[in-house]
Order: sequence, then C-alpha cells, then structure tokens
Amino acid sequence: MCGIVGYIGKRDAAPLLLSGLKRLEYRGYDSAGIAVLNGALSVVKQKGSVADLENALRESGDKLSGAVAGIAHTRWATHGDPSDRNAHPHLNTTGDIALIHNGIIENHTALRLELSSHGYAFRSATDTEVLVHLIDRIWKEEPALMLEDAVRQALHHVEGAYGLCVISSREPGTLIVARKGSPLVIGIGDGEYFVASDAAPIVEHTRKVVYLGDGEMARITADGYMVKTVENIETEKLITELDFELEEIEKGGYEHFMLKEIFEQPGVMEDVMRGRVRLESGSLHLGGINDNLEQLRKARRIIICACGTSWHAGLIGEYLIEEFARIPVEVDYASEFRYRNPVITPEDVVIVISQSGETADTLAALREAKEKGALVMGICNVVGSTIARETHCGMYTHAGPEIGVASTKAFTAQVIVLYMVALALSQGRTLSDSEIALYLRELSEVPSKVSEILKSSEEIHAIAGSYRNARNFLYLGRGYNFPVALEGALKLKEISYIHAEGYPAAEMKHGPIALIDEDMPVIFIATRDSTYTKILSNIEEVRSRKGRVIAIASEGDEDIRSLADHVIYIPAASAPVTPLLTVIPLQLLAYHIATLRGCNVDRPRNLAKSVTVE
Ligand code: F6R
Repeated sequence: MCGIVGYIGKRDAAPLLLSGLKRLEYRGYDSAGIAVLNGALSVVKQKGSVADLENALRESGDKLSGAVAGIAHTRWATHGDPSDRNAHPHLNTTGDIALIHNGIIENHTALRLELSSHGYAFRSATDTEVLVHLIDRIWKEEPALMLEDAVRQALHHVEGAYGLCVISSREPGTLIVARKGSPLVIGIGDGEYFVASDAAPIVEHTRKVVYLGDGEMARITADGYMVKTVENIETEKLITELDFELEEIEKGGYEHFMLKEIFEQPGVMEDVMRGRVRLESGSLHLGGINDNLEQLRKARRIIICACGTSWHAGLIGEYLIEEFARIPVEVDYASEFRYRNPVITPEDVVIVISQSGETADTLAALREAKEKGALVMGICNVVGSTIARETHCGMYTHAGPEIGVASTKAFTAQVIVLYMVALALSQGRTLSDSEIALYLRELSEVPSKVSEILKSSEEIHAIAGSYRNARNFLYLGRGYNFPVALEGALKLKEISYIHAEGYPAAEMKHGPIALIDEDMPVIFIATRDSTYTKILSNIEEVRSRKGRVIAIASEGDEDIRSLADHVIYIPAASAPVTPLLTVIPLQLLAYHIATLRGCNVDRPRNLAKSVTVE
C-alpha cells in the first residue's frame, strides 16, 4: 500500500512531487522520499511523514529545486523496518539510477545472494533494493541498452508484484514505469506527464489518464509516452477521462474506508499468501519463523494473547493449531494474562497478535511472557511496530494500512497467517505432505470464494433494512464459527451501537434463550459441517420462541430456507477455511445496518484505531 508519484515536464518537479505524496498519505506511511534529476540525481528520504520530508528539504536549502523530472514515494513497510535507509527511492551503488517500488519481490532473497556474489553491497533490508542493482548490473553488461530495455530485462528475473518507477542520470529526460499486480496510472498534461499509484495526486493537474495494465511498461518523456508489454510488444492504450473527485479516489470509489477494506479482502488474502504458499510443491515458506520452527513444533503448549478482533482471530488459531498440529493451545485476553501472574515455562510458546503492533495490553503480555522465558512469536500488520520489534520471531500479515477503525481485512489476514502457521507446525509430525498440500489448495481457493460472497452486498443491504431498528442481536455459531459469531457481534456493536452478543450455539440453552422473542434477531452461522444438524435444532428452538432468524448457510442448502427468515449463502468449503468466508457477510451486515442508521462507520464514537493505553 505504498504510494508512488512521478513527474516529467517543464515545471519544478520537487513541489509537485511533494504535494502528490500528501495526496497519497491516506494509504498509510512510515517513511517518505524523493529523487530528482538535476544533471545528477539528488535524493532526500527519511523515516516519518511527508511533512517531515518537506522540513528536511527546506533544511537542505531546497537542493532539489529546479529539476523537471523526479520520483517520490511514501512507504508502508513490508520488508525491513521503517527507517531512513529502508525508505525509497533506492539507488544503485554509483548513485545514477533511482527506483521506487510498490509490491513484494518474492524471489528477493535469491536475487540478493546472486547480486552479492557479484560484489553488490546492499544498504537496506528491503526487497526493492535488488531491483535497482539488477538494472545496474544488466546495464553495465550492455551499456548500449536504453534504460527501458535494462529495466525490461531486469523484470524478466523478478517474481512477485510490482508497480515501479525508475529514473537515471545516464539517460535524463526519461521516466520508466512498469506494473504487475500493483496499480499505476499515467496522467497526461500539456507537455508534462504524471505517474502515480492511484489517480489522487494526478486529478488536480489533469483529468486525462492511462491505466497501465498488468505486464505493461511505459517510457515517458516530456514529449510523449509509449506503452509496451514486458515482452516488448507495443500496446494501444485508451485515454480515460477522470470524472470523480479526490475523496472518492482515496476511498477507491467506495463510500467508506471500511467498505473499501471489506472489498479489498480477496487481494489482501493473495498478498498474505504470496511467496509463502507454494502450490506447485504443496509447501510453505514462512521466512519470519523459519529459524524457530523446530522450537515452535516442540512447544509443550501455545498461548495466544491479543485483544478485540485480534483475540477472535486467536480463537480460530486455537482450533486450527489443535486440529492440524495437535499442540495444546490456550487463548488469553492480553489484559487478563498480564495481571494473572500466569504460569509460563521456557517450553511454552506465546503468540501475540496485533494489527497495529502497538496495543498496550498485548505489548505488556509479550514482555511478561519474555520475562518468564517463553519463545514469543508475533503476528502484526504494521511493520516495525513495537510488538513486531520486541518478539523473538514473527510474521507480518501484509494487509496494508487499515484505516477504518473497525478491523476487517486485518482479521482475515491474521486468520490466514494462523492457518499457515498451524500447517507449518504439523509438518513432519501430524500431517503428511499430501494432506498439507490439500489444505494449502483449499486456502488458495478462498480469495475467489470471498469475491463471490462480496457480490451479495446488495442483498445483504436489503436484509439490513429490515433490522436497522433492532435493539439487540444474538450471533450463534459452533466450532470454527463460534469465534466468527463473536466477531460478527463485535462488528455490529462497535459501528452501529446496537447491543449484540456472540455465543457458541449450544450455550443458548444455558441462558440467552430467555431473551428470545419477536424483537430478537438471531444470526446463525449454519454451514454444512459436522455440527450442522445440531445448529438446525438450535434454529428450531429460536423459531418456536418467535425469534427472527438470519442464516449464513452453504450454497445449495435449500432446506434451511424453510427455517430462516433470511439466508445468505457462502460457497462450499471445508471447516477450517469457513471462518474466512462466513465473516464476510457479517462484516457487510454490520456495515449496512450502521450506514442505514446514519452512523460514522469509519470513525465510530469512543473508539481509537490503536489502543496504546491500558
Ligand atoms: C475491532 C478492533 C479492535 C482491535 C483491538 C486490538 O474492530 O479493531 O477490537 O482488534 O483493539 O487491536 P490490535 O489488533 O491493533 O492489537
């Protein structure tokens, strides 16, 4: 979710690039940088905000002013901590090629090793830096090449996703851009061109744009542009007229960040698995915990600590790890764990889960566990966050910045990471290689199934209309879907301010059933798994007390229609992956009920995105 801006034309590039970066700040950032071509390349980059970068430029005596071409970047770290050295642009050793990049280079370790063996010294911990050295190496071997060709050849060695922008003082007056996976837009001005990762920085200068397609590159000069494929085949591109406003662009055309983030989930899920799930070999590559896998597998017990939505992901993790790896798991609220004087030994493993990586209680639980000698593993979204830094090992969720206060895409990303961890722990112990390959295949099918479910948004909106004035909701599920019931209820209460409770469905009889009458909507997660018939009995119990029933059911289940007032279908899937599917309609239901009630879903009252107080 980093941001890219590029400019080539006749105006002073640096101020244009800076204002472009400000337009991209909504994507989240931890560092920013800018490079311009002023004869030689001049670069300023550092950890912090665009405002910090602007101050640094001012303090440098505006050493970047007067250039008419340049590139700039806001970084949301995926590899390497947020720091000055990891900020983009990255330069080759001789400082005459500068590059900015969005995406993830999957084979960066292999490329880094190869380039190092040819004498290339790396200055950052990013995957991006390999690209600039690779271009440099190819160009040095064939100095007659144009920059465009050197970039093209380099891209043939690269696996992964990229949106990138390159300039060089060896070929001033040229901007090269390329895209695979990460979006790039070219803005067409009058004798000037803009490049950006979305149209937000462009719209104030021109409304004429060209969207670069996957596998396409462009060579841009102040006089024109030429789009070709990475295979060097010229491509005719349509010029599109932007007809929306800046705010709409930031939200990707969605009304709220929360809705955008819900809809981003198929892509995020692909990103979480990228480079980690190897379908061809049916294997997993979990770089962040690779060195600790043996110790993790030998754990006497695993304790998962987290808060809120991350705690719900932890509960699903408990089911996954116990089922796949047969290691006993306990899930604790981080706030309770730390004050309970828990019994922890060096044979225990503690997994802390946090989107922000800054939650005070989770951090305190981490420190407590470390002090008591446990191996502590982190699952965080924000790279370089305090929790990510203080854990012994860990994995990032790569969900990109989550701006809506109610967590959605970070949750599903956490569950995918836990699924992968559970499989890695079972490897060579409790599951055969072919079983692992099968589970990985099922996981890889989840993003397209989620895309299918997202198509029901309008239908869910209609259902939401019937329940917008309800005062209470009950969410019930069993097994893997019990934590989803908790998560569905939390989503509804935090953004719509309707009281909602989640329960294991069988627990209903032990108390909550007393609440059921015609004013109590009950959401059942009733997918076809081993507890399906039991759930049907629970639905009957609710109906006989006049409760209104909304069922989340498996595609093709016609029987349930006669029992429920409303049915939302999800594609068939095996039990361990169903939480990733069943949670989607619940996110959408909460969203639609809240917006119908006129609530500010992106900023619900009294809540903060990151709870750094105890
Ligand atoms: C709910 C939500 C919160 C967070 C909780 C933990 O939508 O976002 O419940 O999950 O505050 O935050 P992190 O994961 O940042 O530790």
